[in-house]
Amino acid sequence: MKIFIDSGDINEIKEANSMGILDGVTTNPSLIAKTGRDFKTVAKEILHEVKGPVSLETVSLNAKGMIDEGHFLADLGPNVVVKIPSTTEGLKAIKQLTSEGLQTNCTLCFSSNQALLIAKAGSTIVSPFVGRLDDISERGMDLIRDCVQIYKNYGYKTEVLVASIRNPIHVKEASLCGAHICTIPFAVIKQLMQHPLTDAGIDKFLKDWEKVPSKPF
Ligand code: G3P
Repeated sequence: MKIFIDSGDINEIKEANSMGILDGVTTNPSLIAKTGRDFKTVAKEILHEVKGPVSLETVSLNAKGMIDEGHFLADLGPNVVVKIPSTTEGLKAIKQLTSEGLQTNCTLCFSSNQALLIAKAGSTIVSPFVGRLDDISERGMDLIRDCVQIYKNYGYKTEVLVASIRNPIHVKEASLCGAHICTIPFAVIKQLMQHPLTDAGIDKFLKDWEKVPSKPF
């Protein structure tokens, strides 16, 4: 499973990248707003840091606007993936941008029927939001399982990207479902490597190491 970071914060992105686990980045207007910085500057910094796919989101509601914004975003770097919402206008924009050879990530997907049409329109990636479905008492991970199965049934090439990840269990379940990509907030990325037995084991080894009479380090 590919690991993306869901962030607009260049320091978080650099830190995750230095761990050697980062395949790409997803952003959205809320994450960019959180930085309090100019959009183009932030986007350029991210594109410079990460060579893998970087999703940058359009904000128009009609296909023409999405396509125009998609062209602007794609011009920022060769690894830009144009993020488009899961609407009928979004499908039209995906069809057009895909025919031009651009990469697309169809976001805000909340149903398997949306995911089916998104794949038919040719999107490179679909982003079902698991956390926001859990928030309204629907099992978000069921949607991931359904998307993976539907795409397998018909051989669609669209990759399932698990978005709106809130905790390490989401990541584990996403990988068990066979999702292609997980986009994870930095706080959760750090949680993935935490284990109390690892910490206790390090403590014990360090204490015992002190008892070794002659040490090279
Ligand atoms: O990037 C989209 C998605 O991951 C948002 O997550 O936590 O705002 O539902 P959240």
